[in-house]
Amino acid sequence: MNVIFMGPPGAGKGTQAERIVSEFQIPHISTGDAFRLAMSQGTPLGVEAKGYVDKGLLVPDEITNGIVKERLAQPDCEKGFLLDGFPRTIAQAEALDQILQSLDKKIELVLNLAVDRSYLLPRLTGRRICKSCGSTYHVVFNPPKQEGVCDKCGGELYQRSDDTEEKVGTRLDEYTNKTAPLLEYYQKTEMLREVNGEQDIDAVTAQISSLLRGLA
Ligand code: AP5
Ligand code: MG
Ligand code: ZN
Repeated sequence: MNVIFMGPPGAGKGTQAERIVSEFQIPHISTGDAFRLAMSQGTPLGVEAKGYVDKGLLVPDEITNGIVKERLAQPDCEKGFLLDGFPRTIAQAEALDQILQSLDKKIELVLNLAVDRSYLLPRLTGRRICKSCGSTYHVVFNPPKQEGVCDKCGGELYQRSDDTEEKVGTRLDEYTNKTAPLLEYYQKTEMLREVNGEQDIDAVTAQISSLLRGLA
């Protein structure tokens, strides 16, 4: 099963992806996670990406497309994959079409998590992430049992550097200007489905899961 999760920053892409990949046993490919990993390791990619990610701006297409091309060619993508946060521009979507063609693969579903803008700032500023395993929490909507500590692995929770009010504003503008037009691009292909991401986390998972079971 080859799927794309779309939606604005804070829509719940990562939260839902964590659950869906564990049910369907496919790799979770998040370009945001890839950039954050490279940034934490201080690799040349990380140094370059940091200049954009820390400002809330999109990383240039050539850099991002290269990462995805390499990742999709890995053997674990044979049984399917979930792309989270890619593509995010029309040029990335066109590059993805070419990459998939060269690998003889096809996208089966583009899932848009629809959430009104008013929900996004509180979700993002309250988000906490585990330093060790990457699990996502929220101080109000999905709190860990013990404050600051991951339920799954005991790791320390941290706040993303781009989850401040100012950077969220820039990220939402980038989404509106560059990513939202992609919905029309995928609408034309008839692969696009929408789920209401304003419901509670379990309700959203149940709907996505049933959509995907329909594909399998
Ligand atoms: P990326 O990491 O992809 O960030 P994003 O798209 O801004 O999305 P988020 O991860 O912030 O939101 P999410 O939808 O995953 O929400 P989550 O599930 O965590 O990208 C970061 C940066 O990397 C970009 O700004 C850019 O610089 C660069 N980048 C990445 N991809 C790129 C690309 N393709 N091209 C160019 N640059 C790229 O949920 C958020 C919070 O809400 C959590 O605390 C969660 O617990 C809570 N929550 C989730 N669902 C619910 C719910 N239903 N009810 C209540 N709370 C909920
Ligand atoms: Mg995410
Ligand atoms: Zn953890």
